[in-house]
Amino acid sequence: MTKAKRMMQENIKLIDLIIELVDARVPIASRNPDIDELGKGKSRIVLLNKSDLADERCNKGWMRCFEDKGIFALEVNSKSGAGIKAINSLVQKACAEKIARDRKRGILNRPVRAMVVGIPNVGKSTFINAFAGKACTKTGNKPGVTKGKQWIRLNKNLELLDTPGILWPKFEDNLVGMHLAFIGSMNDEIIVMEELACGLLEILRELYPEAVADRYGISWRDEAGGAHSMAAMLEGIARCRRCFLKGENLDLKKASDLLLDDFRSGRLGRLTLERPEELETSEQKKI
Ligand code: G4P
Repeated sequence: MTKAKRMMQENIKLIDLIIELVDARVPIASRNPDIDELGKGKSRIVLLNKSDLADERCNKGWMRCFEDKGIFALEVNSKSGAGIKAINSLVQKACAEKIARDRKRGILNRPVRAMVVGIPNVGKSTFINAFAGKACTKTGNKPGVTKGKQWIRLNKNLELLDTPGILWPKFEDNLVGMHLAFIGSMNDEIIVMEELACGLLEILRELYPEAVADRYGISWRDEAGGAHSMAAMLEGIARCRRCFLKGENLDLKKASDLLLDDFRSGRLGRLTLERPEELETSEQKKI
C-alpha cells in the first residue's frame, strides 16, 4: 500500500465528514472511486471546484446527478470564494444523522470533524484557504488524537484537518489520463503536445465547435464542404496566431501550447468535457 493511502486511512479514522473536491470540467476523471471504499460509513460532500471554468448548465446537471445518488454536492469557485458560504448548511445536512445520534447520547455541540480530499491540482489548498479564511484558529493537538495533527476551527460546529488527503488519479484508464492532461494535471513535459491538442480538438468538435471556430476564426469544414482533420485545424490555429518556425513553416508545438493554455485558462469559454450521461457508459459508474 502506498504511503499516501496509509496516511489517508489513518486520517479518515479521525473524521466524521469527507469533503471531496473534483474539477467541474472533468468530474469523472478527477475523482478516484477508491474514496468510496476508504470513506465507507463517513458522511460525504462533493464540491465541483473550478466551476467558474466549467459550463454552467453542466454544473447544474452534475449537481443533480450527485444528488440523485444521495451525495450532497455544491458548485464552488475556491479562487473567488463563490459558493463557499453555502457549505456550512450542507455540512449540517450531510451530518444530520451523526448530530442526532450524538444528541441521543447526551453529547451536545460536538463539532463535526472534516477532511478535504482530492487528486493533485484540483484546488485543495486554495479551497482550504478560502474556506478557513482569516477568522480561523488552529486548535493544535488534541488529547487522544494522533500527534502532529492540526485542526482548524471554522466555527462552533465544524473543525477541518489542516492537511488535505491526496488521492491518486486513475492513470491506467487512458481516457482519464487524457482528460487530466487537458486540464493540466499531468506533466506536460512527458506529453506530445500536438497529440494532446488534436485530442482536445476532437472533443471540442463534438461538444463546443463554435468555441474554436469563433476564437481562431477557422472553420471545421474545408472549401469543398468536407470535414477538416484535427491536424488541419491545428494548422489553422497556427496560421491565425502567426505561429511560424523559420521561413513559412508552421510551429505546431506553439499552436498546441496556445490552444491548451486558452482552454485551461477559460479563454475558450466555460467548457465541460464530461457529461453526466457518460457515467452510464463509464468504468467509474459508481459515483
Ligand atoms: P491542490 O492543493 O489540490 O494541489 O491545488 P491548488 O490549491 O494548489 O490549486 C491548483 C491551481 O488551481 C492553482 O492555480 C489555483 O489557483 C487554481 N484554482 C483552485 N481553485 C480554483 C477555482 O475554483 N477556480 C479557478 N479558476 N482556479 C482555481 P495555479 O495556476 O497553480 O496557481 P495561481 O496561478 O493561482 O497562483
